[in-house]
Amino acid sequence: MKIFFILGRKPSLSIAEIYNISNRSNLHIIDSNEIFVIAEINSETNITEIFYRLGGSVKVGLIIEDPYKYIEENFISKNAIKSGKLRFAVSFYSSNKLEIDSQKKQKKDQVKLGISIKNFLKDNNVNSQFITNNKDLITSSVLIEKKKILKRGFELNLIKAGNSRYWGMTLAVQDFEGFSFRDYDRPAVNKQKGMLPPKLARIMVNLANISDNSSYKQTIWDPFCGSGTILMEALLLGNSAIGSDIDQISIDETQKNVDWMIRKSLIKEQNVKVFKHDIRQPFNENFNFDAIVTEPYLGPVLKSPISIDEYEKIVTELMPIYDSLSNLFIKNSGMIVGKNRLVVVIPIFKTFDGWKDPSDLFMKLLKKIEITHKISKYPLQWDRPGSIIRRNIKIFEK
Ligand SMILES: C[S@@+](CC[C@H](N)C(=O)[O-])C[C@H]1O[C@@H](n2cnc3c(N)ncnc32)[C@H](O)[C@@H]1O
Repeated sequence: MKIFFILGRKPSLSIAEIYNISNRSNLHIIDSNEIFVIAEINSETNITEIFYRLGGSVKVGLIIEDPYKYIEENFISKNAIKSGKLRFAVSFYSSNKLEIDSQKKQKKDQVKLGISIKNFLKDNNVNSQFITNNKDLITSSVLIEKKKILKRGFELNLIKAGNSRYWGMTLAVQDFEGFSFRDYDRPAVNKQKGMLPPKLARIMVNLANISDNSSYKQTIWDPFCGSGTILMEALLLGNSAIGSDIDQISIDETQKNVDWMIRKSLIKEQNVKVFKHDIRQPFNENFNFDAIVTEPYLGPVLKSPISIDEYEKIVTELMPIYDSLSNLFIKNSGMIVGKNRLVVVIPIFKTFDGWKDPSDLFMKLLKKIEITHKISKYPLQWDRPGSIIRRNIKIFEK
């Protein structure tokens, strides 16, 4: 059976995330580009369960051979929608540059396809409503949710890359409300210290997955836990979490956010241990963990590009932090499945002389055990338009 994932804003990260959980999910990627991933999957696998674990994919669905046959079998014969009109939408995805340019023509083709499906349904005595928006070739997740399209009908996708062309039926869209709820509604936020977007935190936790066994629960440690964004996502995926930070307020904030998740029934148990610790100080406790997933202190908040002098000053300030993190990772012997991972954000700075990447300086101790290139052909970076700091995600394993 073949399925498709439509990727979010940072396709390299989205593909790396899917690739890294592919073994535990019995999934095999057969095609990928900056828009989608096509994968082969065992027919017994729960596709939506896998999808809802991801932070970087916005849609998942089944690849089908013939849309009319699928509609006939699943919606007409089964009389699937008992009351009211069946609702459906059509989306076109293409990674071909030329097609992206011929938006108007494609919109026409899309409307034609919608009308043809509507007529097909009508010929089979099913009344339907074709939900479409005027400009976009893509039905947004918001519209799909708002109009209850997947509950009251279906979304058909035409997915094109080069000479490949796939038909897909959407099974689920990203829980964008859940991500935004945890981002904006949690009780403790610390904008000044910089908070990771929950979707990126989720991707990083998935990149830390080291087990091929889907029921194996990992222990994730964030030694710069701040208000706990990474730990929250780790807990939501069923992992155990350990959080430490130099700052007692951050420790309290993390605890508050975890308590809130329990109150909101997002998680059941307090699988978390938090304590105050300055990473530059010796760490004598010897506990087991599978992965360190973290965004360390990234330097002062920057509003505009910096000079080379300022860049060097920040690098000097951050060097001991990254050195201590490297040491901690190398020296700590805690191992459960015989492997440990480090998934870490390294800042890249916008200077007057262009982007400067201090990764090599920061991670020289860990150079030999970097595995980012084994998981992704491309750098794993996250930024927003106009940002001064780009987050570079690196993966190490020992
Ligand atoms: C960028 S924030 C982490 C944000 C976190 N990922 C979140 O989304 O809430 C960095 C954190 O590192 C902590 N920190 C700074 N220096 C530290 C040190 N030497 N040892 C441990 N934690 C430190 C800060 O208190 C801050 O909470």
